[in-house]
Amino acid sequence: MRLGLLALPFLAATVQAADYSGPLRPQVQFSPPKGFMNDPNGMFYDAKRSIYHYYYQYNPSELVAGNQHWGHATSPDLYHWTNHPPALEPDNEDTFIFSGSAIIDSENTSGFFPDQDDGVVAIYTAHSSTKETQHIAYSTDGGYTFTKYANNPVIDSHTDNFRDPKVIWHAESQKWVMVIAWAHALKIGIFTSPNLKDWTPTSNYTQEGLPGVQFECPNLVTFPVDDADSGETTKDVLAISVNPGAPLGGSGTFYVVGQFNGTHFNSEVKEETLFDFARDNYAAQWFYGLPEDSKPVSIGWASNWDYTNEVPSGDREGWRGSATVPREQTLINVDGAWRVTQTPFQGLSPVKGDKLEKKTFNNGDVSVDFSSVESNAVYFDVTIKNLPSSDVTGELSFNFTSSASGEYLDGAVELNSGSFWINRAGTHLFTTADNDNFTGQFDTSISVSESGQFTFSGVIDRSVFEVFLEEGKQSGTMSFFPTKPLDKVTFAATGLGEDVTVDLGVWGLKSGWSS
Ligand SMILES: *[C@@H]1O[C@H](CO)[C@@H](O)[C@H](O)[C@H]1NC(C)=O
Ligand SMILES: *[C@@H]1O[C@H](CO)[C@@H](O)[C@H](O)[C@H]1NC(C)=O
Ligand SMILES: *[C@@H]1O[C@H](CO)[C@@H](O)[C@H](O)[C@H]1NC(C)=O
Ligand SMILES: *[C@@H]1O[C@H](CO)[C@@H](O)[C@H](O)[C@H]1NC(C)=O
Ligand SMILES: *[C@@H]1O[C@H](CO)[C@@H](O)[C@H](O)[C@H]1NC(C)=O
Repeated sequence: MRLGLLALPFLAATVQAADYSGPLRPQVQFSPPKGFMNDPNGMFYDAKRSIYHYYYQYNPSELVAGNQHWGHATSPDLYHWTNHPPALEPDNEDTFIFSGSAIIDSENTSGFFPDQDDGVVAIYTAHSSTKETQHIAYSTDGGYTFTKYANNPVIDSHTDNFRDPKVIWHAESQKWVMVIAWAHALKIGIFTSPNLKDWTPTSNYTQEGLPGVQFECPNLVTFPVDDADSGETTKDVLAISVNPGAPLGGSGTFYVVGQFNGTHFNSEVKEETLFDFARDNYAAQWFYGLPEDSKPVSIGWASNWDYTNEVPSGDREGWRGSATVPREQTLINVDGAWRVTQTPFQGLSPVKGDKLEKKTFNNGDVSVDFSSVESNAVYFDVTIKNLPSSDVTGELSFNFTSSASGEYLDGAVELNSGSFWINRAGTHLFTTADNDNFTGQFDTSISVSESGQFTFSGVIDRSVFEVFLEEGKQSGTMSFFPTKPLDKVTFAATGLGEDVTVDLGVWGLKSGWSS
């Protein structure tokens, strides 16, 4: 928008000066230059310029949700980020730019792009206190600046609970397909369009027993599969975020697996699967326009509506809300159940730094002091091998501690009970005394593979911890807030059988914010 005297509350069309040095600032996950961030929006890959665009729900003027804009950043590799001015700003003080998606209209189906094959269209919800309608805006400069369509809204269903359009191109039917949340009705609407302007409702998806008080941020993602039973080569995953009422409390995401046939999503599973076993992974969005041979890639918001407006990075450092690491995914069949696996995109290779430890051991401790790692961020992986096929004994714990304060973040795999837990209650800048929903410990069940192995890997990054179990069959994402940096980790194995070995690797990570 043009700046004018009347537009003073929205004076945000410049890149905000950013200080990413604060001790709570993640160095590998994205966080906003200042202000408040929530859902990822509009994520697409510009193959022509080899650049990823990431937009996000953004309040540039306050440290709590409100005054929603689309913030904007780009990256060549999803780890090194450049901030840009907000891409979409409210027209007035009463209508905000809520979540949505973006596509590349290479065939000019919209008619917005007479002279180019790389026009970008953003599809988003315009939210006011009485209405949620769907709008579009187009960009002729590759996604940096947008012009709002003169004939918005493109969908008006006369309701205030209808939001978060995610649009993909459906090649079989040669149509654009939108999934969108009828938030309170607990349904996912499916619409199709030839031109992004005229939309036809084709169906609503719902399934008995799905949890949640409101649905938000649906995504429809096609995965390649090799399904011997049905001969199918692809399956579709429908991810639905719910808030409140997620199984772990507050906000969370689940998915169902089935087939999308051009008009309907037909679920093939009795039950939903939780996307994450901890509390801080919401509203994941999948990139549009990735190369054909790329796996699906998503980024989530690493927080929870139950406490996000209160976390201490706001008062201390002037920002709230970070992203998860980008995650690449596969869909696999585990004993008849379809599971999305997720592991850090490209194994974090663009930011992987020096190897701090590489060791094979049995029972005993291995400690790594990472106080000299400038980013204060570390990646580790663990493979426990030669486990017996029954009566598995022992446990392997990890403990990230602060040499200055004694605070800690710990966790363990307990092989005998088949459980895995992570715990943030040993960090003290924000605790259940500040907000009783900021619970400390998260647990999940695990299984040892047929080959007698259990693997896990993780990223700890100042105030975000992410762990990936069993080649990514499960993930646990947890924000945490220590008063002093955690700078040492101890892995301790006890009670393992004598043939069992533990392969451990620990690497420093390089900051994505330093050049
Ligand atoms: C793009 O669409 C507009 C409007 O329909 C049309 O005028 C223009 O010729 C189209 N350009 C191309 C390259 O198809
Ligand atoms: C989908 O559900 C919404 C909300 O209940 C309803 O208004 C709409 O008419 C339904 N659409 C279809 C295609 O059934
Ligand atoms: C904890 O979460 C519940 C459910 O979302 C909410 O009703 C309650 O207000 C939250 N408590 C605090 C202290 O925010
Ligand atoms: C898509 O699925 C719906 C619901 O199962 C069905 O009614 C419809 O005929 C299917 N369409 C096609 C093209 O198969
Ligand atoms: C981690 O260290 C803390 C503080 O020394 C201790 O209380 C906690 O039990 C340890 N956790 C594990 C899993 O050993």
